[in-house]
Amino acid sequence: MKVLVIGGGGREHAIVDALSRSPQVEKIYCAPGNAGIARQAECVAIKDTEVERLRDFAREQGIGLTVVGPEAALAAGVVDAFRDAGLRIFGPTKAATRIESSKEFAKELMAKYGIPTAGYRAFADFDEAMAYVRRRPLPAVLKYDGLAAGKGVVIAETMEEAEAALRDMLLDDKFGEGRVVVEDYLTGPEFSFMCFVSGHRVYPMVLAQDHKRAYDGDKGPNTGGMGAYTPLPFVTKEDEAFALTEIMQRTADALVAEGVPFTGVLYGGLMKTPQGIKVIEFNARFGDPETEVVLPRMKSDICDVFCAVADGREAAPIVWDDRAALGIVLASKGYPGSYEKGAVIGGLECIDGTVYHMGTKVDGDRIVTAGGRVLFVVGRGATLAEARQEALADVARVECDGLFHRTDIGHCAFDGE
Ligand code: AMP
Ligand code: GLY
Repeated sequence: MKVLVIGGGGREHAIVDALSRSPQVEKIYCAPGNAGIARQAECVAIKDTEVERLRDFAREQGIGLTVVGPEAALAAGVVDAFRDAGLRIFGPTKAATRIESSKEFAKELMAKYGIPTAGYRAFADFDEAMAYVRRRPLPAVLKYDGLAAGKGVVIAETMEEAEAALRDMLLDDKFGEGRVVVEDYLTGPEFSFMCFVSGHRVYPMVLAQDHKRAYDGDKGPNTGGMGAYTPLPFVTKEDEAFALTEIMQRTADALVAEGVPFTGVLYGGLMKTPQGIKVIEFNARFGDPETEVVLPRMKSDICDVFCAVADGREAAPIVWDDRAALGIVLASKGYPGSYEKGAVIGGLECIDGTVYHMGTKVDGDRIVTAGGRVLFVVGRGATLAEARQEALADVARVECDGLFHRTDIGHCAFDGE
């Protein structure tokens, strides 16, 4: 089978890598891909939101399966366009993607179907939102109702911060026109639960934890994620069973009941609060960088799972490797603020483990940085400590002046050891 993967980051590199282990896959294309993906797939210069061009390419090349990585492609309606053309595609429709693209849709669904999450109210009017926030304790959790590339959430510690954020979101239309969800502030460790979902059918993946802050000790600005690991010692079997039945399964069923059945990866961003496990957010796609540690643990043929889910057929239970995986992001200095691109990357051939490219490109015979997050180095081991050791040893082999990384990925798991 010929397969097309849409996207060009570390997540897509991990998907391409998993597909390359499938005996059914004869050729992989990736649009647009990156310098690392180019070693395992043929990169095609089509952007992830150029829906018609992607569809025409898949038709012309006789692609048997297309897998969508980024939310932007989903929100642009790529799945709907492929399905209309009779092409097999793995991912949710634009309507089902609203579980991620509209915070208010997600919150209303959870309230209606009794899915545990933080209490909330939604506002379109700045003065009303401000009056509500003033009556409540700080910090205030403010969420812009739409896709904002991970930057639509502000945890305001002071009233001044809350006011500035609400101004941005509701008055200055920095992100576009929209509403704001104001949520109760919850505490506890967060983790990511990704499931393959096809209507009522839910196939869980192993749990992972992302590290959103830029610097060690969970300090600094929020990013797209600076590292991830799996498994998670602080989530019990009971917690996991609860999250599967009361959150993930219930949400899949709710989406069917609402007439927007979900097909693809449903990502639960969950928090283990003193009052139990609650939803912080849903995404309608594989998480990045969680995917880069979760898929290396998948022993089953991922192509079988993608095809069964896309076709609405029963899939075989997924088999997972017990060994831990821990990955560290190498990011451009300055990220998530402004940073320079084009720094030469050396030493990649000396890496023992796996390295996924997040933002790189080929420049002549060299590989150079081409994004905020650049590389993702994955260590494996019988324990998380071993996996971290391997990852750090490989990070030290990368030669590039323009990069920084966190050294404490997995600290939540080690603190208890
Ligand atoms: P989100 O994009 O919704 O995942 O939010 C980004 C981050 O903000 C989350 O990973 C949490 O760390 C934090 N956050 C979001 N909602 C809440 C909440 N209700 N209480 C506390 N922290 C939150
Ligand atoms: N790692 C968080 C996300 O993919 O949104």
